[in-house]
Amino acid sequence: MFTITLKNNKTFQCSANDTLIEGARKAGITLEHSCLSGRCSSCKVMVDDGSSEPTMDEVALSQKEKEDGFILSCVRTPKTDMVIRAEDLSEYKLAVPKTLPAKIKNIEKLTEDVLKVELRFPPNQPLNFMAGQYVNVIKGNIKRSYSIGNSSKENTGIELFIKKYPDGLLSQYWFNEAKINDLLRIEGPRGTFFIRNNASYKNIIFLATGTGIAPVKSMLESIAGLSEDFKNKNIYVFWGVKFVNDLFWSSENLGLNIKYFPVLSREKTPSTEVGHIQDVLLSKNIDLKESVVYACGSNDMIHEAKNKLTENGLPDFNFYSDAFVTSN
Ligand SMILES: Cc1cc2nc3c(=O)[nH]c(=O)nc-3n(C[C@H](O)[C@H](O)[C@H](O)COP(=O)(O)OP(=O)(O)OC[C@H]3O[C@@H](n4cnc5c(N)ncnc54)[C@H](O)[C@@H]3O)c2cc1C
Ligand code: FES
Repeated sequence: MFTITLKNNKTFQCSANDTLIEGARKAGITLEHSCLSGRCSSCKVMVDDGSSEPTMDEVALSQKEKEDGFILSCVRTPKTDMVIRAEDLSEYKLAVPKTLPAKIKNIEKLTEDVLKVELRFPPNQPLNFMAGQYVNVIKGNIKRSYSIGNSSKENTGIELFIKKYPDGLLSQYWFNEAKINDLLRIEGPRGTFFIRNNASYKNIIFLATGTGIAPVKSMLESIAGLSEDFKNKNIYVFWGVKFVNDLFWSSENLGLNIKYFPVLSREKTPSTEVGHIQDVLLSKNIDLKESVVYACGSNDMIHEAKNKLTENGLPDFNFYSDAFVTSN
């Protein structure tokens, strides 16, 4: 067993056979993560002391990040005692993931390549989750990740926003075969993409591309229920899609004072911005030193946004993300 020390000096014991995330979990400590397979970089941490070895290729790390001392704690086992700059998220009391049956309650085609699928659980098996978390959907031997798109107030059912991938195995099922009352299995809740209690910042900025709006919608709905805590905040939402017909959601009817910027990358209209969301955000001259950013969707957007925003004053640790990397 090795002793692992975190940012707040909390320690836990981790065996040489467990990844740092798994060892922490066994000790009752939650570290930031999402895919748990080395592809999204949510679990990236700086090592201040000690050594570890990768259980698989850390594809989500650049050569420079590796040279600078970063590792992916979901695919690293310790070789010595270690000191790592990881945040301890235990205060959030996340529900333990479980597997439960779910039936399709409704399917709605929102755009040419996005479906909204509502799933319901047996009445005695609700799913407790934090707004922003995701689930794995299991159909036969296929397992794919989807973010929960509704708020955590309603836990007898969830809604998912599903993008069609032309050669995608589960896309084939969702878009050509799925019907009401089909029985699936759900594994979750998963991930640590949820609103943090760092309420001292003036601005909360949400960045989403495509179906990455799902967890943002969930978080906004949960913020709406806590409007007292958030009424003095400036809430910004930048949502990027290709064409105006891809916009299947709007921030109206939430009862929140949101500054909402739909951004199109391939079309110009009078009521939308054009370009990439991270550039549109920078053009608004928001004080990034006083901001927290939650970004979800394409991996490229997340990497570019993090680099550009931290170069422009956003504190490094105020950027939270969930990258929709391919699940297989
Ligand atoms: C934590 C997490 C949350 C997610 N939440 C959502 C969500 O809410 N809604 C949603 O639509 N998707 C979401 N995704 C992405 C989704 O899980 C994958 O896109 C999934 O692989 C699609 O399954 P499929 O069987 O249709 O395609 P697959 O059979 O897995 O893939 C077929 C081919 O399609 C392409 N492809 C598949 N997924 C992607 C991708 N994400 N980016 C680029 N190319 C891809 C690849 O070329 C791949 O070889 C999430 C992913 C993660 C990790
Ligand atoms: S790379 Fe570790 S959680 Fe995704």
